Amino acid sequence: MIATAPGKIILVGEHAVVYGRPAIAVPVSQVSARVAIEDHANGLLIRSRDLNRIDRYSDLDPTHPLAAIIRLTLSTLGEAAAPKAILTLDSSIPIASGLGSGAAVSTAIVRALAKYYGRNLDPAVVSSLVHEVEKIHHGTPSGIDNTVIAFERPVFFCRQPPIIETLSVPRPFRLAIGNTGIASPTKNTVGDVRRAWEADREKHESLFDACGIIARHARTLIESGETHHLGPLMIDNHRLLREMGVSCAELDALVEAALNAGALGAKLSGGGRGGNMIALITDETEARVKESLLNAGAPGVIVSEVSSQ
Ligand code: MEV
Repeated sequence: MIATAPGKIILVGEHAVVYGRPAIAVPVSQVSARVAIEDHANGLLIRSRDLNRIDRYSDLDPTHPLAAIIRLTLSTLGEAAAPKAILTLDSSIPIASGLGSGAAVSTAIVRALAKYYGRNLDPAVVSSLVHEVEKIHHGTPSGIDNTVIAFERPVFFCRQPPIIETLSVPRPFRLAIGNTGIASPTKNTVGDVRRAWEADREKHESLFDACGIIARHARTLIESGETHHLGPLMIDNHRLLREMGVSCAELDALVEAALNAGALGAKLSGGGRGGNMIALITDETEARVKESLLNAGAPGVIVSEVSSQ
């Protein structure tokens, strides 16, 4: 039995979303986490192929993210004991890159266990289980990563007041996702923004407000099929993220390279200080933007289409 979960990127609104402003995230199906589950006589084992290790579930610390998601899922399924099975984890999502690797692995585990017991969990339930574990990874996650990955649809998300709305995308659009090759745990940048916000709340509240306006405007453009106008919003959002102190020279260089090659817009995506950036591309600019990102030092570029599916 196999279950999978996609990666994700934040289109607009990262960081501000932690402070109650809306943001938009979209799934990225080109990368995914995959969990296979098979019966095994010797209790529950977890094989992480990428890390080349096997752990016994009962030996893991209860706060370990893998132990936590398994425990929460079993309890939601009403299963008192762990299954006699081996879970094999594989993921093509780079860790600490802003593509939601932790949330995707957790989501695939929840789905695999539900399948194993012949059950179907609602995406909202999957999302809330994964959010609990995201709190262990990230401290104060907004919940947008687990939401977009569990729903596998573009989402307009607000933490407070809670809004989870899947977006219809009448005119699909394409993004080039350029990797800096720098691992940057979200927990660190989220913590730094919190310290900066505590030091100067007025400045940061107004930066967050501006990001929220961008997210609302972006939603209108996406839902009315005017996605070619998203570019200036992305450029503005990148500027605001720079002011928050979460960009870095490598991200700025990739954003500039994409814009110089004709991308309609570009910005960092996710926690920042490494990880990924995104650029809005068209048929005419795709090859040039990709080449330009690679020449500017991106070790890899993924092209992903954003649609309602
Ligand atoms: C991470 O994908 C997005 C951040 O806004 C953190 C969060 O929302 O939890 C940086």
